[in-house]
Amino acid sequence: MTRKIIVTSALPYANAPIHIGHLVEYLQTDIWVRFQKACGNTCYYFCADDTHGTPVMIRARSEGITPEQLIRQMHDRHVSDFAGFGISFDNYYSTHSEENRILSERIYDGAKKAGSIIQKRIQQAYDQQEQMWLPDRYIKGTCPRCKAPDQYGDSCDACGAHYQPTDMINPVSAVSGNPPVLKESVHYFFRLGDYEGELKKLFKTGYVQKSVQNKLDEWFTAGLKDWDISRDGPYFGFKIPGEEDKYFYVWLDAPIGYMASCKNYCDQNGMDFEQVWNSGEYEIYHFIGKDIMYFHALFWPALLTSAGLRTPTKLFVHGFLTVNGQKMSKSKGTFIMAETYLKHLDPQYLRYYYASKLSGDVGDIELNTEDFINRVNSDLVGKLANLASRSGPMLTKKLDGRLGTPDEKGKALLKEMTAAKEAVMADYESLNFASAVRRIMALADICNQFVEQTQPWSTIKNDPEGTRTNLTTVLNAVKTLTIYLKPVLPTFAEKIERFLDIPPLTFADVETMLENKPIQDYIRLVERVEKEKVDAMIEESKQETSAPAETKQPQLEEPIEPECTIDDFVKVDLRIARISKAEKVEGADKLLALELDLGALKKNVFAGIAKAYKPEELVGRMVVCVANLKPRKMKFGLSEGMVCASGPGGENVFLLTVDSGATPGQRVH
Ligand code: 2FM
Ligand code: ZN
Repeated sequence: MTRKIIVTSALPYANAPIHIGHLVEYLQTDIWVRFQKACGNTCYYFCADDTHGTPVMIRARSEGITPEQLIRQMHDRHVSDFAGFGISFDNYYSTHSEENRILSERIYDGAKKAGSIIQKRIQQAYDQQEQMWLPDRYIKGTCPRCKAPDQYGDSCDACGAHYQPTDMINPVSAVSGNPPVLKESVHYFFRLGDYEGELKKLFKTGYVQKSVQNKLDEWFTAGLKDWDISRDGPYFGFKIPGEEDKYFYVWLDAPIGYMASCKNYCDQNGMDFEQVWNSGEYEIYHFIGKDIMYFHALFWPALLTSAGLRTPTKLFVHGFLTVNGQKMSKSKGTFIMAETYLKHLDPQYLRYYYASKLSGDVGDIELNTEDFINRVNSDLVGKLANLASRSGPMLTKKLDGRLGTPDEKGKALLKEMTAAKEAVMADYESLNFASAVRRIMALADICNQFVEQTQPWSTIKNDPEGTRTNLTTVLNAVKTLTIYLKPVLPTFAEKIERFLDIPPLTFADVETMLENKPIQDYIRLVERVEKEKVDAMIEESKQETSAPAETKQPQLEEPIEPECTIDDFVKVDLRIARISKAEKVEGADKLLALELDLGALKKNVFAGIAKAYKPEELVGRMVVCVANLKPRKMKFGLSEGMVCASGPGGENVFLLTVDSGATPGQRVH
């Protein structure tokens, strides 16, 4: 019976590109999803960008763009990083979406109705200069325990101490460098403790791997605390219904993004989202790293329960990546971006290498660069590709490109290959890809021995038909090995399918025999890893740190905005307007308050032209204004449009004026 499965990976933050540490999870998930699909199961892989929160807001600010622009750019970048590694989502969406807003409000509302949302007055650090609240990570100072300077506001990297930012010595805001002040505010909290009983029941169903169960027990012993789910503005996120300047904390709407991605997919594909997500018809699995277990093991199922929604089937938790025995390091060049990797190396290497290391537990994954080169060259190139390259070209070049039929000896070998199917499948199912890879490589060894024994390169001279028989056996063995490895190496598999001239392989094809049929020309499958290329990748990764990505590329001092299409452009409605009033704005020496007469209507606009024009010289002038700009609330009032001007700023701003023959309200093309 086929299964119906929904799979997700953690949603990457939209403030930075994907690196090889992230890829452990996306490759692990992708391999599992491809395996499920190759078994004939219905399996959807959903993901999205995690777009909200302070880091996105700050990065956008520092780049001089809006958070919306930043998350659009990053979405494109993530999509291309993932595609480069063959990670094949069924939908890659965004948490900054209407679906996610509606679902977030629905879940919040459910929790509220269940009586699990309360308000508390709290004190929080505030940066007066930047006029923003500071999360602990945005406060830096000296560790109160070991006195190490330049530590974060929640913990010390030097001695591992955990503390409150208020305990730090000389704390400063990481944004402005000024000491923060403490300010009071009312926040919303989710009463996690209300769900202790339900959570304990859920864990009895095997919600997490056994190896992480202990951690949960520790959390229960420590007691489940209320969870702060709101943040005060300025904040990039969804406004809390009924509030003017309070937003959902990014971690509230992030996991709901799994559902939003699913909903968006369902709507586009004529499927009933409520049925798919909530009826229990589908198994739901979340792949996550061990650092975000608390959110997924406690908050997420508790929130869903509070809103009367189903809980996921299981979490698959993995460990972190270490490179050459250490955390990824910028100065050592081991903090490697997906894009940098792809410039130098074949993505199949990393897919294979990670698969050979992943065993389904929470231990860390070690990428040793020397071992990486040796293993890929010995297994992927030396054993697997070699098997095909020793038999394929001979058959196409010297034996008319036709398969024959294996003899008894060949059939015995193929039976041995087929017999491993259940074990290989069980390995994949349990995420023990390392065991699957070991098994498959042991079979590849046996096949290579067969080639050594049968010596096709020498029998071809006197016994072409006997050689055809043996090569047919070898190519059938290659087919089976390819099926076994297809979840890990989809590109390799596609090449073999083209070469053998067969439709896409699935696990159901393990037992079928390819015989008495033509095959196509041999295609080179995979090249050896060259150490020089690995070194070049590491060297480039070192340089990436010394010069931020934005300044490395040749570009204008102020980067060009993302492309807008002609369709976007024609949306701008430009009209002639007569300036009927112009006044200085108290407290804003760059702004003038203008009243624009557009004939049938008037608009108030704040324009940053006070250094360039005196109010009195403007009254009566005909200017061009953007009449359909969405009104924007500014500190001094509502601005309902924009006057067109150009120039570098300050005194050098020049209004686009129209001197004769124009009437207010007239359209400008
Ligand atoms: O830790 C992270 O990178 C988060 N952006 C993961 C979010 S997973 C889910 F909850 F959205
Ligand atoms: Zn310390």
